Amino acid sequence: LSQELDASAQSLTSAEAVESFRLHWLGRKQGRLKAISEAWLKSAPVEAKKQIGQRFNQLKAEIEQRLESASTGTGSGALDAEAIDITLPGTRRALGAEHPLIKTMHEMVAVFQRMGYSVGVGPEVETDYYNFESLNFPPGHPARDTQDTLVVANQERKPLRDRLLMRTHTSPVQIRTMEQQPPPVRIVIPGKVHRNDAADATHSPIFHQIEGLCVDTNITFSDLKGTLDHAMKEFFGSNVKTRFFPSFFPFTEPSADVQISCPFCGGKGCRKCKHSGWIELLGCGMVNPAVFGFVQQKQPAYDPKKISGFAFGMGVDRIAMMKYGVSDIGQFYSGDTRFLEQFA
Ligand code: PHE
Repeated sequence: LSQELDASAQSLTSAEAVESFRLHWLGRKQGRLKAISEAWLKSAPVEAKKQIGQRFNQLKAEIEQRLESASTGTGSGALDAEAIDITLPGTRRALGAEHPLIKTMHEMVAVFQRMGYSVGVGPEVETDYYNFESLNFPPGHPARDTQDTLVVANQERKPLRDRLLMRTHTSPVQIRTMEQQPPPVRIVIPGKVHRNDAADATHSPIFHQIEGLCVDTNITFSDLKGTLDHAMKEFFGSNVKTRFFPSFFPFTEPSADVQISCPFCGGKGCRKCKHSGWIELLGCGMVNPAVFGFVQQKQPAYDPKKISGFAFGMGVDRIAMMKYGVSDIGQFYSGDTRFLEQFA
């Protein structure tokens, strides 16, 4: 029997072989062990029962031990290789991807960092003072209506300047930055802003802006034009041209809207520029002396007789939509992985 066991254990080289070995010896209905116990144990004379029983148990233990060593891999090499096949591809974890808005924001911020700008941030829940008053939107001024402000509830008992709202632009961080540090300042402020706009293909109540602020002695409108022209060429390609139109913002004077020649058709006209050859991208202007006046309450060095500056603001979502050919702004905020996977 031992020889028979040795011989049949030779072939334990696969999971199937181990299973048929188990069935052959230990099978409940037709296993060898069952047959042995029936043929010998039951019919043995009483005196021999003890010895035969011992031998029987020994055999059973041997069979089990062989099964054990075969399945834990201390048996044949072939079975080892089957238990852990190190050539099989592993289970991969899905890698996340940078969100297209964050990616666009990083790339634009990097353009300004290479020009010596640093990066600043500020709160999304703002006070009326920083979002409006210090930016030269007086209480009741009609320019406030252009901002579609979402306000925080139950603020009526506070003085107007302390009432909380969702910032409608990143410009309040201009004031916060200047209050914290004397001139010179060169800073870009990427961030999320909020407006009470109904969501459609081109509007989202949450979107992103990048603000810029440069304050020093003798900063001129030429510096503003040169800086933005260079930044747009860096970001969109050196063939891109810029042009400036008169505009209005309470916190800049003079103010301008900036268009770039369409980077997709080279200005010939295509769907992305609505066949005009130009795309409007920025608001900007020279910092209004009245704004320096508010800052001076905390930082007297912002004396409009001694320093000057420019500021600009651009919408990130629109730039990302054009760059990646996204036709619905809502995709950026849907969290739909079928959309986001395309940027991996
Ligand atoms: N804050 C303005 C807006 O949201 C943009 C802007 C920023 C304009 C800085 C001029 C200077 O519309």
